[in-house]
Amino acid sequence: PANGQARTPPMGWSSWNKFAEAIDDKTVREIADALVRSGLRDAGYVYVNIDDGWQGERGPDGVLHPNAKFPDMKALADYVHARGLKLGIYSSPGPKSCAGYAGSYGHVEQDARTWAEWGIDYLKYDLCSGEGFYHTADTVQAVYQQMGAALNATGRPIVYSLCEYGRFDVGAWGRDVGGNLWRTTGDIEDSYASMAAIGFDKNGVPRHTGPGGWNDPDMLEVGNGGMTTEEYRTHISLWAMMAAPLLMGNDARSMTQETLALLGNAEVIAIDQDPLGRQGLPWRKQNGTEIWTRPLADGSVAVGLFNRTDKPVAMIADWPALGLGDHPSVRDLWAHRSVVSGAVHTVPAHGVVLLRATR
Ligand code: DGJ
Repeated sequence: PANGQARTPPMGWSSWNKFAEAIDDKTVREIADALVRSGLRDAGYVYVNIDDGWQGERGPDGVLHPNAKFPDMKALADYVHARGLKLGIYSSPGPKSCAGYAGSYGHVEQDARTWAEWGIDYLKYDLCSGEGFYHTADTVQAVYQQMGAALNATGRPIVYSLCEYGRFDVGAWGRDVGGNLWRTTGDIEDSYASMAAIGFDKNGVPRHTGPGGWNDPDMLEVGNGGMTTEEYRTHISLWAMMAAPLLMGNDARSMTQETLALLGNAEVIAIDQDPLGRQGLPWRKQNGTEIWTRPLADGSVAVGLFNRTDKPVAMIADWPALGLGDHPSVRDLWAHRSVVSGAVHTVPAHGVVLLRATR
């Protein structure tokens, strides 16, 4: 049952990668302000998602309350909405979340109604603590289906994010249970090795991705300090080529200009958000280099020249072999300039040159 949401991959920010459980109302408000001030809201980053760690206790009526760090969720939602942003929340189908807070087990419809009353716009539903009973594709599908139906029954449009680590063949049924995105892997870490292992090789089944439902290779680590600028450029370029959700995972209140330029590149965001919604694929792999292509709605093609080696490599795009004729017009999306089609590109170690070519 489609909810009409996420016609392009969701963009925004999530608390987990940087803050984990150390998240509170004040920080969320400051992040919302930072998204507005930095221009990133206007670049498309509109979801402000609270991950694990907000949950408190259930009342005698079963209603789930936030913990003391979140005094008033409805007021927080109002604050976020007043700034042209949307608010996301997190739960688990089991009795406990991954970090040990209350899960939605036995309270699925009630929790969905509570979130809708608060004004929640996005739910990440994380498969934790239910291992004893949700251990087959059928049972996992059923619990995701139950929450998908409960969200739809609230009448509020709520983006539905399935977090099941790429298990249980989720891509094949994620859309059918109302999901708008589903994880393709375990958790990303803020290192080149982790990011590259996911970005180059664990990006789900491309045909499952498209308007309304997306493969989710996990949230961004850009700006968290564990990678070089070139490596973060590769991170966001890969995510854009894959049509992945772009959920910032850094402290948006204290970004460097460099981080802002990586996250806010409108030409790269346009690749990620291309309305055709086709996932890019590796076209040629050779000696530690990879050329990826992604067809775009206007007939142009995004081409990524990726260098996975530890030394700079000269790379060229073979336009005729790529189906773009002898002399397409070519734009370098990180250099922000047109380049001659025959150009030889020196791609830095662990880096990328991202091009958009029109025949
Ligand atoms: C596991 C997920 O993969 C993470 O993104 C995060 O949501 C944690 N659980 C929270 O406990």
